Amino acid sequence: MIKFFDYSIEYKKIEKEILKSIKKVLDSGILILGDELEKLENNIASFIGQKFAIGVNSGTDALTLGLRAFGFLQNSEVITVSNTTVPTIAAVRNAGLTPVFIDINPDTFQIDETKIIEKINNNTKAIVVVHLYGYPAAIDKIIQICKKYKLKLVEDCAQAFGSKYNNKYLGSFGDISCFSFYPTKNLSAYGDAGMCLTSNTEYYNNLKLLRFYGYKENKPISYIEGFNSRLDEIQAAILNVKLKYFDNYIFEKKRIANIYFENIENAKIVLPPKIEDVILHLFVIRTKYRDELIKYLYNKGIETKIHYPMPVHLMPAYSFLNYKQGSLPKTEFISKQILSLPFYYGLSKTNQKTIIYALNNF
Ligand SMILES: Cc1ncc(COP(=O)(O)O)c(C=O)c1O
Repeated sequence: MIKFFDYSIEYKKIEKEILKSIKKVLDSGILILGDELEKLENNIASFIGQKFAIGVNSGTDALTLGLRAFGFLQNSEVITVSNTTVPTIAAVRNAGLTPVFIDINPDTFQIDETKIIEKINNNTKAIVVVHLYGYPAAIDKIIQICKKYKLKLVEDCAQAFGSKYNNKYLGSFGDISCFSFYPTKNLSAYGDAGMCLTSNTEYYNNLKLLRFYGYKENKPISYIEGFNSRLDEIQAAILNVKLKYFDNYIFEKKRIANIYFENIENAKIVLPPKIEDVILHLFVIRTKYRDELIKYLYNKGIETKIHYPMPVHLMPAYSFLNYKQGSLPKTEFISKQILSLPFYYGLSKTNQKTIIYALNNF
């Protein structure tokens, strides 16, 4: 079976260094909030282009704490998309806020920025853009809307570490930008990890309190109601090693993407957009014959996945938001056509050939 994802090839290449970094942490006696995290925060803030970074436990927590850091009133509205993974919306709710969904542009998979203004009211406080699959949302236009209507911009960059827009890294535009280092992500830990970036000192200070029960300087007195959300030293050490090899990772992912772009040829299959400077997290094709294609590929030993089979607004947990079937037609339309192919560092040439051959003969 050609697996959908496999981290082992990348891991084997850097195994010695990873194990050494883990040992160093274990020998140091400091497992939480130590030098490795500080180093990682400095590295990532300067890599992406924001002043401050705050490591947290996951991408979901980065979004939750990020939204809490603004100090919005409970039930304030946040404009976002339903064409995302649950955590984006779970985080909006965890922060006590209400998501307001905007439909997407099906060609780019991103929020349709022309539909944002009609949903803004006095209760709207922020826009959460999700750079899905690594593609940028229309940031320039969205920044203009945020300025005009005094809204905060949050970038959900969980799938977009390393991708650029107008020559700047995604994550450098938001008032707060949120990253996930979940094991499948572009920059990935061997467990859960996430990070908020900001250049605003007030939000930075709030985030530092929020991730650690509201404590200042480790004294167990809460100044604000906070969380336990810390990126531990072992994961930070692993990420510091992986960041060193990130150029190599980008090179490899681009190479594999280009092979798909250049060789998949089938009138029944629509390829995703090919955009310079985008580091794809997932390679997502579209086809009217999706269910048939899944079965066909599976029978040929090829595992695929759907990101995501049900838009969040139609999920039972979010029925109280009152979005009916048909309310976001483009989001619903593409959720029935999308299919993610195996696409990871180390996908072998032979396996990729098998996948392409199967697709072209479907
Ligand atoms: C777009 C998006 N947002 C948020 C998250 C949440 O990240 P995590 O799994 O680290 O909590 C993910 C990853 O699952 C994601 O893909």
